[in-house]
Amino acid sequence: MTFTLPELPYAYDALQPYMSKETLEYHHDKHHQAYVTNGNNLLKGTEFEGKSLEEVVKGSFNKNAPLFNNAAQHYNHIHFWKWMKPNGGGTKLPGALAKKIDEDLGGFEKFKTDFAAAGAGQFGSGWAWLAVKNGKLEISKTPNGENPLVHGAVPILGVDVWEHSYYIDYRNRRPDYLKAFVENLINWEYVEEMYSKA
Ligand SMILES: [Fe+2]
Repeated sequence: MTFTLPELPYAYDALQPYMSKETLEYHHDKHHQAYVTNGNNLLKGTEFEGKSLEEVVKGSFNKNAPLFNNAAQHYNHIHFWKWMKPNGGGTKLPGALAKKIDEDLGGFEKFKTDFAAAGAGQFGSGWAWLAVKNGKLEISKTPNGENPLVHGAVPILGVDVWEHSYYIDYRNRRPDYLKAFVENLINWEYVEEMYSKA
């Protein structure tokens, strides 16, 4: 397979004021496109040609760093666009997921605090995650393009904390970006969909 850039599932200005049209134009059209283009070039002639994206990500980890970085970022961004929606966030979660967050993570309010803290605490570029590992939900953070797939877990929500995701709108105020993401952008229906498949 080759990597292709998906369309955004909403208009470029649909997430304003929490994420600007300019941010999405750069982030999707330039940054994500570069991961796709570079990933396709790096895939050529490797043992991973013809494999699924998940297989490329898992198989190239610690083996082929340039390919891994681009393939993992492609995977992360495909989902990142869908983990957001206009009028997202809110307080009402799909039932099964709400119960699981209560059981494993001490409730929705604690989840929001801990998830944002993971993003704020990631030194430099990376991601904060909600993932399913051994049947339990867990919050984690990773550097650069790394994601829970390479740690035996299935990501169901992630937030990009690379500066390209927030610097135009929030400058250095990463915690404000994370608060807006959690309160106003998360597409919980898509998180639930990934949870049900995990
Ligand atoms: Fe990004």
